Amino acid sequence: AVERTLSIIKPDAVAKNVIGKIYARFEEAGLQIVAARMMHLSEEQAGEFYAVHKERPFYGDLVSFMTSGPVIVQVLEGENAIAAHRDVMGATNPAEAAPGTIRADFATSIDENACHGSDAPETAAQEIEFFFGKDGVCPRTR
Ligand code: CMP
Repeated sequence: AVERTLSIIKPDAVAKNVIGKIYARFEEAGLQIVAARMMHLSEEQAGEFYAVHKERPFYGDLVSFMTSGPVIVQVLEGENAIAAHRDVMGATNPAEAAPGTIRADFATSIDENACHGSDAPETAAQEIEFFFGKDGVCPRTR
């Protein structure tokens, strides 16, 4: 089925100037960008976005990293987009990410891991609405 997923290119990858290379991988995987926005997250925004991890030991470091510089947030659409996006990203920990994945090629650690992707349809819908609201997505018309 055609799905949408929320993707974030994190501050480490933006700083490395590989936004275009990462976008090319999305496109090569058959994913279309149907919304996109560059922003520098506030602590409040990053904390709310990652609220499910509030009790995890890495939460503080995660919020400070995600607010350390600008990110690019996008909605990707395509057949099985959630899993397809996770495949191109590779494992959360770049040390475990398959060769040729975004994290294997651009991430440095589990904390600075280049990108985020929704993990399920429910979280994808929530995360898309968090950044783009109810009508902030632009499906292709041609
Ligand atoms: P992300 O998909 O953005 O979701 C939460 C982030 O927390 C994750 O990517 C990692 O960058 C970071 N993180 C740090 N330590 C861990 C851990 N032990 N397990 C999962 N995520 C972690």
